[in-house]
Amino acid sequence: MSRLRIGVLTGGGDCPGLNAVIRAVVLSAHGGLGWEVLGVQDGFDGLLHDRARALGREDVRGILTLGGTILGTSNRGNPFAWPVVRNGRTEVVDASGEVIERIRALALDALIVIGGDGTLRIGERLSQMGAPIVGIPKTIDNDISATDITFGFDTARVTATEAIDKLHSTAESHHRVMVVETMGRNAGWIALESGIAGGANSVLIPEIPYRLEVVVETIEARATRGRPFSIVVVAEGAHPVGGTQVYREPGGPGRLPRLGGIGQQVADALAEATGRETRCTVLGHLQRGGTPTPFDRLLATRFGVRAVECVAAGRLGTMVALRGPSVIDVPLADAVAEPKRVPPDGELVRAARELGISMGDVAGPADPAAGLL
Ligand code: F6P
Repeated sequence: MSRLRIGVLTGGGDCPGLNAVIRAVVLSAHGGLGWEVLGVQDGFDGLLHDRARALGREDVRGILTLGGTILGTSNRGNPFAWPVVRNGRTEVVDASGEVIERIRALALDALIVIGGDGTLRIGERLSQMGAPIVGIPKTIDNDISATDITFGFDTARVTATEAIDKLHSTAESHHRVMVVETMGRNAGWIALESGIAGGANSVLIPEIPYRLEVVVETIEARATRGRPFSIVVVAEGAHPVGGTQVYREPGGPGRLPRLGGIGQQVADALAEATGRETRCTVLGHLQRGGTPTPFDRLLATRFGVRAVECVAAGRLGTMVALRGPSVIDVPLADAVAEPKRVPPDGELVRAARELGISMGDVAGPADPAAGLL
């Protein structure tokens, strides 16, 4: 096989495991194949502004365990809705043609795009325009349907579970209600899985609108069983029945609105309704930082190696994915068709309910023998 030249970029919000995947791409492209790898800085922004550098084995030494991305990233860089300042005014233009030009100018045989939902969608559109793209799914939100799991999610789940564990002891000591707000955008995976793993009493997720009175009932039912403290996990995208999500910032050209604030709202409403001392902890970007778990390192590494294999085999316009025990590749178009949400009637929600966790629609069991105490 001829010596190829490939680019790699990270787009969207960062997550643990990005460096592990960059390392895997560089090592497998260099090692067995002797290819050249260009690292593009700060996502599509770097591609448009000529910020790419050669990545060799030395550049990826020691980065396996590092959080973040050595390439930098941006979740405001959509080339199809690119803000430019002209005569002091911001205009939104379609810069996708320039991206294609830059890929040609850099003589890239393939561009490996590591991103979440938004970045992969951009990759898919560029691929439709003829760009040689291979996608790798990353996000703490775990909301990409073509893969069983995205890397970054496990580390976020561990961070959230550890936080819930710590809040348990202080909740119990002070007989308080502790509300924990997790990230995840419109998907409740982090909240639900850390809530189950951490033994939460109520878990509110975007997929199941909640009723405050049910959460109140669950807290009071626990108190009558001699447990005057509760842990309520609230996904940032959760909302009450008939209500709307809470945003910190509206969206804009090429960027999504920023969710956040529902945890405090729930905490205030619970304090008022129960008269109990209530505190809110917002986990925020802690969930995106730190050393990736071994699971995330392994998955990221397997994804990186598979992406290089896809390029070698000429399977472009694809995204690598985990299905059961295997890493496979699927057409990018299929990968971004539908976001992956928590199925409200799925096994995970059923398991939570069986344990006595209230999902905010139906109170947990009043039977003292049932439920997590
Ligand atoms: O998509 C990852 C994510 O961390 C979401 O869970 C969260 O809503 C969003 O990004 C936060 O974005 P930002 O880093 O712009 O605050």
